[in-house]
Amino acid sequence: MNIDNYLEKNGHSEELRDLIKIIVDQIRPIKNEFLGGDKKSGTYNIYGEKQIKLDKRANEILLMAFRNSKLVKQVGSEEEEEAIQMDSDKGHFGVTIDPLDGSSLIPTNLAVGIIFSIYENGDIMSGLKNITQAFYVLLGPMTLMVFADKSGVSQFIYNDKGAFDLVKENIIIPEGNLYSPGGLRKEWTDAHRDLISGFEENGFKLRYSGSFVPDFHQVLVYGGIFSYPALVDKPNGKLRLLFEVGPMAFIAEKAGGGATDGKIRILDIIPAEIDQRVPLYIGSKKLIEGIKI
Ligand code: F6P
Ligand code: MG
Repeated sequence: MNIDNYLEKNGHSEELRDLIKIIVDQIRPIKNEFLGGDKKSGTYNIYGEKQIKLDKRANEILLMAFRNSKLVKQVGSEEEEEAIQMDSDKGHFGVTIDPLDGSSLIPTNLAVGIIFSIYENGDIMSGLKNITQAFYVLLGPMTLMVFADKSGVSQFIYNDKGAFDLVKENIIIPEGNLYSPGGLRKEWTDAHRDLISGFEENGFKLRYSGSFVPDFHQVLVYGGIFSYPALVDKPNGKLRLLFEVGPMAFIAEKAGGGATDGKIRILDIIPAEIDQRVPLYIGSKKLIEGIKI
């Protein structure tokens, strides 16, 4: 079963299915951009055009596709300073994108990802509780998609025909013992340092690449906790609420796990700014329930 059949089975509208199809069709062009590697950026191509960074290029590809689709009302992108209103009377979806997350790992050829969330009410600033679907594409040895809607979380693998085939349904985050701690230890607060030391004393295994999508995906598969905490000089941490944290929090909860900023459930937050950052603890249900920072 491919993603389109899956969406149909889950009772999604034709517009939503078209939107996902358009996104899926952009994966090949985005992957093609990797072929020259990040070395190309800043240099000139055969037409004398300056090559731009891969994350900017992925952003352009996705925005162009949304504009042409006429299905989207508003887009927020990690690469843009403000929300973009798409000029279409028909489009009603609000979409957020992190067009190329973990792009600092491109030169080392480690895994990176693309993160999406959809607001069927068309308003990405209306509060994270209004996310209706969220998903990421993980560009690793395999290209896969993890897709969440109200019925749960499923995984798809990208095939040689450019489609995503269903490989796993009803994914639940197990109570595992991976820990993936962002931020420098010297910048952690005492409370966060104590929490991480507790995991280490209990034999948790360290798994941190510096790219959020694969780091979260390991937690989804094996169980455990990913954190990017409040830092002494940066009380809101590093990750962006709308483009990174919100979509992953939605996926984690639909997979039976949890996500908090240490005090508040992430999905209860209403953003004040489009580029708002928040501390994040995300992963297995019991581990997240135990966090009080
Ligand atoms: O987009 C921010 C990001 O690149 C995430 O993918 C990742 O989790 C984090 O930053 C890594 O930050 P650091 O380099 O501080 O470990
Ligand atoms: Mg990012």
